[in-house]
Amino acid sequence: MKVTIYGSGYVGLVTGACLAEVGNHVLCVDIDPDKIERLKRGEIPIYEPGLDDLVAENAATGRLAFTLDPAEGVKHGLFQFIAVGTPPDEDGSADLSHVLAVARAIADNMSEYRIVVNKSTVPVGTADKVKAAITDTLAQRGSQVDFDVVSNPEFLKEGAAIDDFMKPDRIIVGTDNPRTAELMRALYAPFNRNHDRVMAMDIRSAELTKYAANAMLATKISFMNELANLAEKLGADIEHVRQGIGSDPRIGYHFIYPGCGYGGSCFPKDVKALERTARQVGFKAQLLAAVEDVNERQKERLFDKIRTHFNGDLKGRTIALWGLSFKPNTDDMREASSRTLMEALWDAGVHVRAHDPVAMEECTRLYGERPDLTLYEDHEEALAGADALAIVTEWNVFRSPDFDLIRKQLKTPTIFDGRNLYEPRHLEDMGFAYYAIGRGR
Ligand code: UGA
Repeated sequence: MKVTIYGSGYVGLVTGACLAEVGNHVLCVDIDPDKIERLKRGEIPIYEPGLDDLVAENAATGRLAFTLDPAEGVKHGLFQFIAVGTPPDEDGSADLSHVLAVARAIADNMSEYRIVVNKSTVPVGTADKVKAAITDTLAQRGSQVDFDVVSNPEFLKEGAAIDDFMKPDRIIVGTDNPRTAELMRALYAPFNRNHDRVMAMDIRSAELTKYAANAMLATKISFMNELANLAEKLGADIEHVRQGIGSDPRIGYHFIYPGCGYGGSCFPKDVKALERTARQVGFKAQLLAAVEDVNERQKERLFDKIRTHFNGDLKGRTIALWGLSFKPNTDDMREASSRTLMEALWDAGVHVRAHDPVAMEECTRLYGERPDLTLYEDHEEALAGADALAIVTEWNVFRSPDFDLIRKQLKTPTIFDGRNLYEPRHLEDMGFAYYAIGRGR
C-alpha cells in the first residue's frame, strides 16, 4: 500500500520506517529542508534504538523516501498520516497550527479520495477541525473530492518505539465510516497477528483514549510519589509498599515506581492538555490537576533533600549528577527532572558535574557552555571532588557502581537517589549518607 507521512519527527519516522519494513511504500514529508537532506543521507535526527538501521535498510530498498514537496506527498499515498508536533500553548492547550496547516496542504493538492489519519496527539474534537479545514480549502479551490478523517493515536514509548509499533497492545481506529475502518485494518494487518488488536470506534472516543491512557499512567506515578512522601513522614519504606500492593493483579507492578517525577514530551503535556480540554467544556478535572501538581513538586524533592542535608549552605558547593535524560535509552530532556534539579542548584550557586550516556549533546544544545556546568564522558570522572552525588535517571550503568570509588571520589560520601536504585541498609553499612524517595529520609 502507499502511505504518506507528514512530520519526520519521532512519531512520523518510527511509523514510516515500520510501515515500510512490512512492505508498504512510504513517503515522508517535512517542511525542514535540513532535516530532509540529512534523512536522505541516512542521518536520523533523533536517538531511538534500532531506528537508524530500520530507516537505512528501507530507504535502500526504495520503500522509504523523503521529500519537502506536499504535492508529491498527496499524490503518493491513499493514507495521509499527520504526525507533526502539537506543542503546548502558554495555557497548556495543544497548539494545532501545524496539524491544520498539513490538513490545508493536503486539501490544496488533493484530486482523488484520501484517508487523512491523525497520528499526532490531539485534543478531542481535532478530527472535526481537520475535516473543516479540508472542506473549506477544497471549497475555496472550487473542488469536490471525497475524503475521510481517522483518529489513530500512537502508543509508542521512547526507547522502545519500534517494538511498540511492531507488537502493539492495541490499534485504535476512530472513524465514522466502516469502509475506512476496513482499509485501516488492512494497513495494520501485519501488526495484527495472533489476535485482533484493532479497536474501531467513533472518532472522539479514539481521541480521548490516547489522553486517557497517558493520564492514567501519570496518575499511577503521582499516586505513588504522594505515598512515598507520606511514607517518609511515617517511617515506612515505599519499596515494600510498592511490592505489597503490586502483587494484587488489579493494581499490578507496572508503572508504580516512585521517583523524582515523570518527564518527557508526553505525560506533562497530555495531562495539562486534557485538563484544559475539560475546562473548555465546563468540567473541573480535579484529579488531573492534582496529578500535575504532585509531579511538579516531586521534581523539586531531590533539591529539597540536598538543601536540607547541607542546612541550606549550598553556595560554592559541587554536586555530581548522573543522568540527564527524562528516562533511560533516550537523549530526550524535555521536562526532565534533571533540569528542575540543575536549575535549582545553579540558582543556589552550586557547580554541577554531570554525566549522561547519550544526552550530553542535548544538554549542551539546551544550556550551552556555562561556568557552573561541566559534562564528563565517564560517570566516574564526574564524581571527583564533588560534595555529593545525585542520581536522576536509572540508566543501567548506574545500577551497580563501584561504591568504594564513589566514596573515595566524593568529599563526603553522600548520595541523593531519585530512582531508588540501591538498598538503603547496604549503603548505610558502607558509610554513605543515602537519601532515596520514600525510604526513610
Ligand atoms: C509515554 C507512554 O508510556 C507511551 O505509552 C505513550 O505512547 C507516550 O508517552 C506518548 O504519548 O507518546 P514516554 O513518554 O516515552 O511514553 O515515557 P515513559 O516510559 O512512559 O516514561 C515517562 C516518565 O514516567 C519518565 O520520566 C519515567 O521516569 C517516569 N516513570 C515511569 C516513573 O516515574 N515511574 C514509573 O513507574 C514509570
